[in-house]
Amino acid sequence: MENQIITCSVNGNVVSVPSQYFGWSLARYLREVLGLTGVKQSCDSEGACGACNVIINGKAKRACLTKVSTLDQARIETIESLQYAPGETPHPLLQTVVQDGIFQCGYCAPGALLSAKALLDENPNPTEAEISRAISTVICRCAGLNRMDRSILRAAAILRGDEKSIWTPQDTEKEERILNRITGREKFTNDLSFPGMLYAKAVRAGSPHARVLKVDVSRAEAMPGVHKVLTSRDLPGRNLMGSITPDQPVFCDENNPVRYVGDCLAVVVADTREQAEAAADAVDFELEALPMITSPEEALALGAPVLHERLKEAHPEEPNVLAHFSTRKGEEDAGFAHADVIVEGDYEVPFVEHAYMEIETSIAVPQADGSITVYCGTQGPVEMQHQVAASLDLPIEKVRIAHQFMGGGFGGKEDITGQIHVTLAAMLLGKPVKATWSRAESIAVSTKRHAMHMHYKTGATRDGKLVAGEARILGDT
Ligand code: FES
Repeated sequence: MENQIITCSVNGNVVSVPSQYFGWSLARYLREVLGLTGVKQSCDSEGACGACNVIINGKAKRACLTKVSTLDQARIETIESLQYAPGETPHPLLQTVVQDGIFQCGYCAPGALLSAKALLDENPNPTEAEISRAISTVICRCAGLNRMDRSILRAAAILRGDEKSIWTPQDTEKEERILNRITGREKFTNDLSFPGMLYAKAVRAGSPHARVLKVDVSRAEAMPGVHKVLTSRDLPGRNLMGSITPDQPVFCDENNPVRYVGDCLAVVVADTREQAEAAADAVDFELEALPMITSPEEALALGAPVLHERLKEAHPEEPNVLAHFSTRKGEEDAGFAHADVIVEGDYEVPFVEHAYMEIETSIAVPQADGSITVYCGTQGPVEMQHQVAASLDLPIEKVRIAHQFMGGGFGGKEDITGQIHVTLAAMLLGKPVKATWSRAESIAVSTKRHAMHMHYKTGATRDGKLVAGEARILGDT
């Protein structure tokens, strides 16, 4: 295999691929070698999401599951093939999905559009069932894809000449941002890279509640490509983060116990992602399990283990209560007396993973004037700036958050993910540092919509009018 080369065409250009890339996935090769970052990844190369769909020899295929070695003489099309020059009219598929408002974040758009294009290239007059089947291989979280079949039908009619396009040159200008986002021109954070960039990988506790007895990074620091392994000892400022109440350690240590499985013990920084991952496995740590609390009811019970000493000082009676809100309106007794029917019951909703298509990435780039620029897609850039500055002990004006397009957030991107870790690494090493989570890490570590335990008593009249309500809601945060 050595010194072998395969040849394929990518968006009409002939590409010769040397053997060192034969074992790579096509998705990685297109993104990292050819810079075609319109190819997205939203799962851990499991073929689950379809964001990486490209067209190979006329068929829509998962680029994450396709090995480069299988592509000799292949004809590959990525979303970049649908780009258009200034003054040109975008492809009918782009016109109709924009006019129908199909995409919000646009992260799944390249995969969905290419799946549709592969179908229309082969079958100019598809049925609705064929269209549904073609785009069912792609997951969308903003919920527009379930309406995309109509846009594809109309695009097919325009392509056949059965229907007139209603797109105008002004539309191209007016819709520039969404067009850029769905055709891969706009960069999401994980699409960015900088010269000399290093890669960071966090070591997670994997335990819900534990005392940290030891974190030994010596073996990991001696591994190939490793520049540094960061722990709490490297942090110059506040070892706490949290948008509303800073109560989560940036790094758990002897003084900051682990309080959930995703808590961080150390961060490895290395030349490549693979080296960082290998060294993260070599960090040697020891934890002593502490009692678990698994429900708000247990947390409220007399004698329950206290999770945060600080809260115990604030309200010793209920030390595990973060906040208590109550609200009242009208006369409930009179309301219930007026009711023909009273329904009372207990209800529960679970934690909800936000499941945005774009997995978390943070990149920190040190600047010549001693400041630092942090690239990330976040729902709270100002809050983030304050938290990064506090943990790094930097004046606020030395931290610039370069907010990028977000591939979905839904309330799940308000908290710190890797921003403090990469900023610390970049400051200490003087190089850009990137941390990209895997989907598994994102699900395990990111914050969730709170689970709720609710008791409701509701009064209504016979004609269906609600006249009284009383609720006690326990939020698990
Ligand atoms: Fe390829 Fe998810 S299916 S990245």
